[in-house]
Amino acid sequence: MNEQDRILSLRKELHEHNRRYYVENAPIISDQKFDEMMHELQRLEELHPEMADANSPTMRVGSDLQQDFVQVAHQYPMLSLGNTYNRNDVESFYERVRQGLEGQDFEICCELKFDGLSISLVYEHGRLVRALTRGDGQKGDDVTSNVRTISSIPLQLPEGTGYPEHFEIRGEVLLPWESFDRLNRQREADGDALFANPRNAASGTLKSKDSRVVAERRLDAYLYYLLGDDIPHESHYDNMQQARRWGFRVSNAMKVAHSLEDIYAYIDYWNEARHSLPVATDGIVLKVNSIDQQEVLGYTAKSPRWAIAYKFQAERALTRLEEVTFQVGRTGAVTPVANMQPVLLAGTVVKRASLHNEDIIKQLDLRVGDYVYVEKAGEIIPQIVSVELSKRDENTGKRVEFIAHCPECGTPLVRYDGEAAHYCPNDAQCPPQIKGRIEHFVSRDAMNIMGLGSERIDDFVTAGLLYSAADLYNLHAVALDGRWALVHRDVSAEALREAFEPNLFSEESETPAPACIFFSADSKTGRSLTCDNLLKAIEDSRKVTFDRVLYALGIRFVGKVAAKALAQHFRDIDALRKATKEELQMVEGIGDIIADSVIRYFSSAADDNLTRRLEEAGLQMSMPESKQLGNALEGMGIVISGTFEHHSRDEYKRMIEDHGGKNVSSISKKTSFILAGENMGPSKLEKAQKLGVRLVNEEEFLGMLQ
Ligand code: IVH
Repeated sequence: MNEQDRILSLRKELHEHNRRYYVENAPIISDQKFDEMMHELQRLEELHPEMADANSPTMRVGSDLQQDFVQVAHQYPMLSLGNTYNRNDVESFYERVRQGLEGQDFEICCELKFDGLSISLVYEHGRLVRALTRGDGQKGDDVTSNVRTISSIPLQLPEGTGYPEHFEIRGEVLLPWESFDRLNRQREADGDALFANPRNAASGTLKSKDSRVVAERRLDAYLYYLLGDDIPHESHYDNMQQARRWGFRVSNAMKVAHSLEDIYAYIDYWNEARHSLPVATDGIVLKVNSIDQQEVLGYTAKSPRWAIAYKFQAERALTRLEEVTFQVGRTGAVTPVANMQPVLLAGTVVKRASLHNEDIIKQLDLRVGDYVYVEKAGEIIPQIVSVELSKRDENTGKRVEFIAHCPECGTPLVRYDGEAAHYCPNDAQCPPQIKGRIEHFVSRDAMNIMGLGSERIDDFVTAGLLYSAADLYNLHAVALDGRWALVHRDVSAEALREAFEPNLFSEESETPAPACIFFSADSKTGRSLTCDNLLKAIEDSRKVTFDRVLYALGIRFVGKVAAKALAQHFRDIDALRKATKEELQMVEGIGDIIADSVIRYFSSAADDNLTRRLEEAGLQMSMPESKQLGNALEGMGIVISGTFEHHSRDEYKRMIEDHGGKNVSSISKKTSFILAGENMGPSKLEKAQKLGVRLVNEEEFLGMLQ
């Protein structure tokens, strides 16, 4: 088989494995084997840019193309549904349908109402060609490249399953609870604002301009509506079962009801059972099952007459506020937390709620001892929504006041102009801030120092062994009396022995014992595996690449993607330290806020000191030197313009240099050619034409480097 054929066969196989894994939850090969095939495909596709295909399984990992979304008209308008909140409304809907159908028998398909954002997918000849958001119902944002990263959406339907040549399928894009929790944990560690619920997170993600971010967050999609001129079945239910065979994720919770009682039973069941679903739901959707009958009933201006949504009651509970405490996070932000009498809410016992900031406390006019209503916002973080004033009496305590000093280190708090949060400015010494920064530093996507969990970091900081991440690189292990002690490398074995071994003949030692943490030794080997592994992980982290070191520093707002872009652009820490705001903003994806934050970081003595100590410790503070890979572009001056699909601008810049060329910023007669992406500016285009400079597209360019 030649390489081109191998590409086609790998694509086909990977599409199928993807479907088995993400849709059927029944993979037949190991993750490792899957990754191997994916890597082989990636490698072959790189060798054959002429075979590029936006629907290849490799495209799921996303590109860093910056997109401003293009608006595209929907073929069929995307309507919303009428909402109901009680059984009377459900009964009225049922009656309206009965009358509209003039006494014919009818079935109602009951299904879950998924709480995400709606998406319309268009398929032609079995291939995904377009994904649009709802937008204003008439036209939506084209989010196709982001949607391609969603693993449960098939890019290519399996052959022989009888899909129509052209059809549209609609559904809901969601962030499953698990991914949502992970995302928020990560954001907390990065010092970013948390998403209030999975819907907001899903919508923020789908509108992200960087599809790599989308790929990382692991969105999912449930499909619930098939449209087109030649859809296969007479009933909505059958169509959806068929769509499942084409590889779409269709909920198993669909059920055909023949009476109002059936419908109520469905509602009652899912009102409870929904709490154990992997995704958020906010109600039930009732749809007339027969497509013919749907057509008879028709539409109002806003919604179909053949369907309705029944919304679950937001669950709410009344309980007593016992105390408000204040928590200090990694960035020094202070969050007020309401501690309440435990109460059952939406299946879990709730006793704490975030009060967010001082303004919220004031708005509620909250007093200790108040009876408060708690709700789960989008079912996640409990919120106090109001106070039951009728229950306020002489036993109710004082008005809740925001604290003036840090509860951890006593430093006066500050509130910056235009921000709602209070901060503890003592970032160098405030313990939770130190711990939080170290936790982030060692985390998997940063320095990946395994064996240093949150509790152990706590111990190290409390013992006085770690004040900053740089201290990690000063540790060594000393054997002492059947144990191993981790200490600062200046502490010798003798000094330690003197401090810790009982000495019958001398007075109590006067010098304080050095900071240390003990690990017990294995009786057979005499070593401590935990201690050895930890030191090895610290040692290995010296090889972690500069972009991850930069991320590990925990510069506010500099997440993984921004760190990578900055590292690729500036190449080393010195260049980054010296960069002006304007220079920072020239980097793709770096705006005002990140640029300011980077400048603030390097002008703060403590932070800059950390980077210098890490540099001394031998961490990677620059990207590897560019190595000459070829001379295909020897002596050429090349202008890069527009946006690209396969690589970022910085990557192209580097490729030009690696192949002997020079990246120049403006077009002149001397320009060898323009590497032209999409949406090249009209003035540049005109200039190129006037001067007769050739335009080379991405694929041609990649071909030149072969
Ligand atoms: S059917 C014409 N089915 O709810 C009927 N919608 O308020 C089109 N939704 O915009 C919608 N789960 O985003 C339908 N099983 C389901 C749904 C569902 C969630 C959303 C959808 C729609 C909104 C209506």
